[in-house]
Amino acid sequence: MSGDITRSQEWTALAKHHEEIADTHLRELFAEDPARAERMNVTADGLYLDYSKHRVTDETVRLLLRLAERAGLRERIEAMFTGEHINVSEDRAVLHTALRLPKSAELVVDGQDVVADVHAVLDKMSDFAGRVRSREWRGATGRPIETVVNIGIGGSDLGPAMAYEALKDYADAGVSARFVSNIDPADIEGNLRGLDPETTLFVISSKTFTTLETLTNARVARDWLVAALGEQAVEKHFVAVSTNAEKVAAFGIDTANMFGFWDWVGGRYSFDGAIGLSLMIAVGPERFREMLAGFHAVDRHFRTAPFEANMPVLMGLLGIWYTDFFGAQTRAVLPYSQRLHRFPAYLQQLTMESNGKSVRADGTPVHTDTGEIFWGEPGTNGQHAFYQLLHQGTRLVPADFIGFAEPYADPAGMHDILTANLLAQTSALAFGKTAEEIAAEGTPADVVPHKVMPGNRPTSTILAPKLTPYTLGQLVALYEHAVFVEGVVWGIDSFDQWGVELGKKTALDLAPTLTSEEPPADFPDASTAQLVKRYRELRGR
Ligand code: F6P
Repeated sequence: MSGDITRSQEWTALAKHHEEIADTHLRELFAEDPARAERMNVTADGLYLDYSKHRVTDETVRLLLRLAERAGLRERIEAMFTGEHINVSEDRAVLHTALRLPKSAELVVDGQDVVADVHAVLDKMSDFAGRVRSREWRGATGRPIETVVNIGIGGSDLGPAMAYEALKDYADAGVSARFVSNIDPADIEGNLRGLDPETTLFVISSKTFTTLETLTNARVARDWLVAALGEQAVEKHFVAVSTNAEKVAAFGIDTANMFGFWDWVGGRYSFDGAIGLSLMIAVGPERFREMLAGFHAVDRHFRTAPFEANMPVLMGLLGIWYTDFFGAQTRAVLPYSQRLHRFPAYLQQLTMESNGKSVRADGTPVHTDTGEIFWGEPGTNGQHAFYQLLHQGTRLVPADFIGFAEPYADPAGMHDILTANLLAQTSALAFGKTAEEIAAEGTPADVVPHKVMPGNRPTSTILAPKLTPYTLGQLVALYEHAVFVEGVVWGIDSFDQWGVELGKKTALDLAPTLTSEEPPADFPDASTAQLVKRYRELRGR
């Protein structure tokens, strides 16, 4: 809808409904309606979401779905998939869904045959990845590549790094990957340690090819390589992923070894395209394409399933329910898979860079909270660290539990215990334990209050058959679209990220001041001036 959603009848109806049910306990909801678990679940191409442990009734879901209709979600989904310029502040189409369209699909946007372009790059990546994996592509001294080092940051790092960790078990060609992102010298230094320049390939990943961290790290890597193998070795040890051929050439990378993408792919939505090159080299083009098929299956589900059976729609609307009606501040994402240990970090960029906005697409202020704050760690590690607060703290923290039926390998039969923990946690969070139950166990009266488990802590459980490339694609698409749903309801532009620019520019302005011998001049503020002074003293400048 154009206009402020918080002034709509649908919003008011939800606010009223919230007042009515906010204090209802999940114990009551389940007691009154034993069939809710059978009803409150949805399947998307084999992915299963149980949302019965949410503080919702059928009426809540109905009202949330009405809100989605009011926000024009159906039209916005079509607008995204068909390439309308829904990224209004940058006047761009938003077509990450095109990165996973099959070759047979048709999509022409702004006069460009998007499917042909996407597949030309995918084929080029597959060819290159195949040559590295088969040892046809060799380093300057004739030795095969053993390690790929992706140098990138934000969307040019988190996606491939998360996915590589997730799919490590599928890396079958003897090529491993490392990821360098931070401008902290410890990052590149630590990652180069132990590497042999003769068997190392650098993939410099940057959409703009202007990012300070990436270009600085790339220069350090280049110097490291050239010191060992000479200038002529660069050609065989450096490739680039970017939209900016000019800058790639200026850096000294042959654009024949550049893998492109387009301004309609946001950085945080890009690892299913060329930004995934390091992943593709490690796991192989076939696995990579399986992952794309998983993405595409959920894209289709999102575009075609009725909203009441639409997993990303329901997940996005639940996010709105807790953020805007319960005032929840954060959402925990708790994968019961060690392989997904970078998934929460990946999702942080996805949700917070996308929806951390205070104005709507038309530039007018929002009148409600936006932008969920995601955080998390894999279970069961989190259980022994921060779950205490989830169970007994004063804050409401809705949580997503993600589990898999089958492990990749389980020689000691541990996987069932892992899953039992997932199920136990969501049950304890929902139903807790009352003072009466605790007293009945013979607990001394003064200890009883400490042991009370209030319950009523909402969770989603996402259950997938197995963590495969296909499933990973499904999971990522699921969250991408849930974030989109929230953005549509809030009426914001989920695809720009102007908020990161000022800090970047100020850092560039400040850097010379830190190293200069000259007295500090123009500072942005007195506090920063004082800190610069202190830093220079500590550095003996
Ligand atoms: O600082 C934010 C950002 O622009 C992200 O959106 C992006 O993923 C990252 O920087 C890296 O940008 P690039 O790929 O252009 O180096």
